[in-house]
Amino acid sequence: MSPDRTRRRPDRNLALELVRVTEAAAMAAAPLVGRGEKEEADQAAVDGMRFMLQSVQMDGVVVIGEGEKDEAPMLYNGEHIGDGSPPEVDIAVDPLEGTALAAHGMPSALSVIALSSRGTMFDPGPCVYMEKMAGSPEIVDLLDLDRPLGDTVELIAERKRSSVNDVMVVVLDRPRHRDGIAAIRAAGARVRLIPHGDVSAALLAVTERSPVDLLWGIGGTPEGVISAAAIKCLGGQLLGRLWPRDEQERRATLEAGYEVERVLDRDDLVAGDDIFFSATGVTDGDVLEGVRYPHAGGASTESLVMRARSGTVRRISARHDREKLRAVVGNSGSA
Ligand code: FBP
Repeated sequence: MSPDRTRRRPDRNLALELVRVTEAAAMAAAPLVGRGEKEEADQAAVDGMRFMLQSVQMDGVVVIGEGEKDEAPMLYNGEHIGDGSPPEVDIAVDPLEGTALAAHGMPSALSVIALSSRGTMFDPGPCVYMEKMAGSPEIVDLLDLDRPLGDTVELIAERKRSSVNDVMVVVLDRPRHRDGIAAIRAAGARVRLIPHGDVSAALLAVTERSPVDLLWGIGGTPEGVISAAAIKCLGGQLLGRLWPRDEQERRATLEAGYEVERVLDRDDLVAGDDIFFSATGVTDGDVLEGVRYPHAGGASTESLVMRARSGTVRRISARHDREKLRAVVGNSGSA
């Protein structure tokens, strides 16, 4: 048999369709950047994403969405999306990751979606938060949620043949992180405090030669699953452990069958390799440029579009004609 006949035909890369979905959400939210209205910005992103998702042929179920059906009329957990034709997929969406960042015109708000084969995505259940640690391929074996943070940053410095003073850890600026931040600083390493947006921070932490070496801290469980999907495409590792906020949440988590003490890695959070991911910048950040308006009627977007199985990572810069888009799709999704 000739080598050509043994080769598989290239199949559909859904990520290339998903980019239109995150672009639509980002462009819908962008006019509300800096307007101080979190809910309105989020709603616009949800509407834009929902509208464009109709164009993707799939049999999808939302595993990570905007919440329960009664509080989220669209993109709610368990919602079926698509025309019911194959592939069967799990869907994780965050139409506006960093709602407060967008509302206050601050960096690193994103629109993001991830798809994986049906039954492969971790369902966060009742546990809102998870402790996370993420780093690039160079340091994956050094990640450990039980080792003191000061020791971990020293090991990272050793691995990178640098001084511990050069190591930078990105951490959400929250009172719950006070002791962890103190431990990192006591070891001599540096801390980049961020107000929101640990998906963007995780992407930065796993990127080689980025200004950040490690992500650590307690953030949203859904954001942990979305970050894991991205990291399976980019390389690197994310470890997570559920972090119930109080005794009641701990009990609910245990009753729902979750192991609270277990350390989950990226494969526990999203199994397999059939993972498609797209993120579009809403506001400018280290990872992506936000939506810009270079001239009247025009908009530009930048997106990260990836697939785990092939390992392809694309950056897609797009120019949009808002008038023409409106004529094609109406007001939804085109801002
Ligand atoms: P939203 O987009 O839902 O506002 O989430 C932003 C975020 O900062 C996430 O990136 C992070 O995982 C989570 O909130 C942290 O939660 P909290 O603000 O409650 O500490």
